[in-house]
Amino acid sequence: MADALAGRAPDATPPVAAYPMPRAVSCPLAPPPALQPLRDEQPITKVRIWNGSTPWLITRHADQRALLTDPRVSNDDRDPGFPYVNAHRAEIAHATPRLITNTDAPEHTRLRRTVNAPFLIKRIEAMRPAVQRIVDGLIDDMLDGPNPADLLTALALPVPSLVIAQLLGVPYADHEFFQRNSNLVLDNSVPAEEARAASGALAAYLDTLLAEKTAAPDADVLSEMGGRIKAGEMTHREAVHMGVAMLIAGHETTATMISLGTLALLEHPEQLAVLRDAEDPKVIAAAVEELLRYLTIVHSGIRRVAKEDIEIGDRVIGAGDGLLFDLHAANWDSEAFPEADRLDLSRPARHHQAFGYGPHQCLGQSLARLELQVVYGTLYRRFPTLRLAAPIDRLAFHHTGTTYGVRCLPVTW
Ligand code: HEM
Repeated sequence: MADALAGRAPDATPPVAAYPMPRAVSCPLAPPPALQPLRDEQPITKVRIWNGSTPWLITRHADQRALLTDPRVSNDDRDPGFPYVNAHRAEIAHATPRLITNTDAPEHTRLRRTVNAPFLIKRIEAMRPAVQRIVDGLIDDMLDGPNPADLLTALALPVPSLVIAQLLGVPYADHEFFQRNSNLVLDNSVPAEEARAASGALAAYLDTLLAEKTAAPDADVLSEMGGRIKAGEMTHREAVHMGVAMLIAGHETTATMISLGTLALLEHPEQLAVLRDAEDPKVIAAAVEELLRYLTIVHSGIRRVAKEDIEIGDRVIGAGDGLLFDLHAANWDSEAFPEADRLDLSRPARHHQAFGYGPHQCLGQSLARLELQVVYGTLYRRFPTLRLAAPIDRLAFHHTGTTYGVRCLPVTW
């Protein structure tokens, strides 16, 4: 064998790393340590995913911005080169109707227009007093309840679940059902048949609710979609799947940010003090942006496929190649955020990519911002002595989901 190789130039191709990459147990809030050298030395490189395919991994902030707004980069998950997150997603790609999450312009633009209105800043901002009442009520209950408590179940999950249920017109009484099934859909390690059953249960639930709302409209998003179905602007099936996407995305992500953000702040007491003592809403808003950047909870890479050859830097991404954008790597890119590994609530961080970038940037970002501003702006004032009730190294982190977070957050005061 050695003889057969003698005389050949050493293979210059570095080995292909597996993705997603493990985090360091000692730094559970930081991105996987292997990402930093990759971003610095091979910012556009191939990685190996669960099915053995080798899409490109894009880690620099600037490269992500260029590619996520490039019309040759597609979100069409029926393309054979699309780098699916797991077997379930691969299996359902051809059976799912075309939605904002899997289309490109001009279809994406048309579909997004049909769901945009309820999430515009002005309409979301009008919800601030209602969100404040929800947060105040849950905090009152916490103060009257057991100490220590699990912040995830006492506050982080109920806030966004109550808000998205109210916005969509879904009865909050069904929250255990929709939280459990959303968890299964979003957990990339769940067997395909279980994920299929969970998304089927959510679709059946929304199907019935949407039919009721179409027949007897109320003041909520499902009824608004019912009106669009009647006007021929979207089909019932599209609206059901859109409702499922909003219900799932609308609570799990924000819940994770509330609990993981609180953990990050408890680990950085000097930063927590800045937030607790802030009088200016702009300081709270800036803190939310920095926590979104620092934690980047959507951690398993957003996914696309190249429709044509694309030259970028010294690389050529071929037509049909899969693309993964690691948002945490971009948000810790020191070219975009000096000393990116430092949590600094006073830094201008609004150009982070925690909500993605380009046409598919998060539909619910104004809502998420509002909820986080109200929670972070209230919680630490009402609990000035809030602290962890268990050491951080005893906390269980959720690695296998679309979002990265804690499974429970025991706190005391
Ligand atoms: C802290 C909370 C949240 C984070 C970090 C987050 C993150 C993201 C990210 C990274 C994307 C881009 C996906 C891609 O480009 O492939 C996205 C898209 C999306 N998000 Fe969020 N999200 C949050 C809250 C919400 C909420 C509250 C809703 C409520 C409806 C929502 C609904 C959506 C939808 C429907 C899309 C797809 C948009 C499109 O493809 O055009 N998200 N989100």
